[in-house]
Amino acid sequence: MTQSFQKVRALTGMKDILPDTSSQWETLEATVRAWLAAYGYRNMRTPVLEQTRLFTRGIGEVTDIVEKEMYSFTDALNNEHLTMRPEFTAGMVRASIEHNMLYDRPHRVYAMGPVFRHEKPQRGRYRQFHQIDVEALGFAGPDIDAELIIMLGRLWKILGLSDIRLELNSLGQAHERAAHRSALIEYLEQHQEVLDEEARRRMHTNPLRVLDTKNPAMQDMANNAPRLFDFLGAESLAHFQEVCDRLSDAGIEYRLNPRLVRGLDYYNLTVFEWVTDRLGAQGTVCGGGRYDGLIELLGGKPAPAVGFAIGVERLLDLCAHSGEVTSPPECQVYVIHQGAAAQRLAARLAEQMRDEGLRVIVHAGSTGFKSQFKRADASGASLAVILGEDEVASASASIKWLREPAIEGQPQQETVPLDRLMKELKLKV
Ligand code: HAM
Repeated sequence: MTQSFQKVRALTGMKDILPDTSSQWETLEATVRAWLAAYGYRNMRTPVLEQTRLFTRGIGEVTDIVEKEMYSFTDALNNEHLTMRPEFTAGMVRASIEHNMLYDRPHRVYAMGPVFRHEKPQRGRYRQFHQIDVEALGFAGPDIDAELIIMLGRLWKILGLSDIRLELNSLGQAHERAAHRSALIEYLEQHQEVLDEEARRRMHTNPLRVLDTKNPAMQDMANNAPRLFDFLGAESLAHFQEVCDRLSDAGIEYRLNPRLVRGLDYYNLTVFEWVTDRLGAQGTVCGGGRYDGLIELLGGKPAPAVGFAIGVERLLDLCAHSGEVTSPPECQVYVIHQGAAAQRLAARLAEQMRDEGLRVIVHAGSTGFKSQFKRADASGASLAVILGEDEVASASASIKWLREPAIEGQPQQETVPLDRLMKELKLKV
């Protein structure tokens, strides 16, 4: 007796991407690769699984990601502590150190793929989601910070997005953050009565994140807290000013947001986010900034770096409004046939069409013409090629336009000799 099997479902917050949607992903990915190539960025791929300490060290012990969102486990076979990457940056920096990539020159690199965070799922927030991650490793100047942001402006244009705006801040250097930190802790200690439990817990470990609170009761306190921006010295301010000037030169608008601190600990100087009001609560489409200390922190020779990551699900959601990222049809030509000889001829001709670069589906099986036409229509093909007994006998094929309006009630159709078929198809598709 077979035991009944309880259906297995996808995990909460982890989505299946089915063919109709997946073709939009492919279109977006192709656009993104061409956009990145135009700026000299090259692809690199790092493992999904890394040692847990890479992320605790890299992202920071007292961050939401490390404290409560990582998928970590102990490998039962060798007791190693492992984590599914919650972001790309730490892994890409590890790889660049491990392979001495920064020994002789800087690198512009990117990666795309799934990342994992155990968050409460809602629209735009998933447990497995995808990032397009771009890193400029080994570059110190504000020119590259600006280039990355300008580059993003170009992508939004290519994708036809207008409802997206830039928020910008500078987190200064370590010594400036230390001076601000002492002032901030003192301020928070004076306002203990309005702090919630999480804020009290973080007050001494990550006081900057306390200001990032969504708690309405803490907004006044957060608004009046000492601002890191006011602790920046001349060099940090000059770096920031240069970024701002270059953005203005390029016609990129931005809003200075002194409260923008980002959720990962590795940043210094420039940080930025691109946000939209179109996606509800999860409106940050892209975030990034400079992280000059991370390479050294992870054991490499000190080298500056800057980068960003785009959330692909959020970007596609936004593109759904602009209509620029569409799915191509399943095929261009759908071949319909009747009878054994026509079926074999269909398979042969379809191979020739593919030699000519056409995307072709040959109807599988031997159903009647009517249901084959229905399938042809559903495939999105612009043309059907019809091979019946008459066509086989006369070495010809009929071509039917599937997308153009019928002329005087008659769908447009034409019969051509087989030796002219390829030429006609290439003209008509
Ligand atoms: P992040 O801000 O943590 O930065 O994530 C980047 C983007 O990923 C967000 O702006 C958002 O669009 C998307 N995202 C984040 N969490 C989720 C989620 N649960 N579901 C769906 N989308 C999400 C980083 O990851 C840094 N590594 C960026 C970076 C690269 N900084 C320098 N280089």
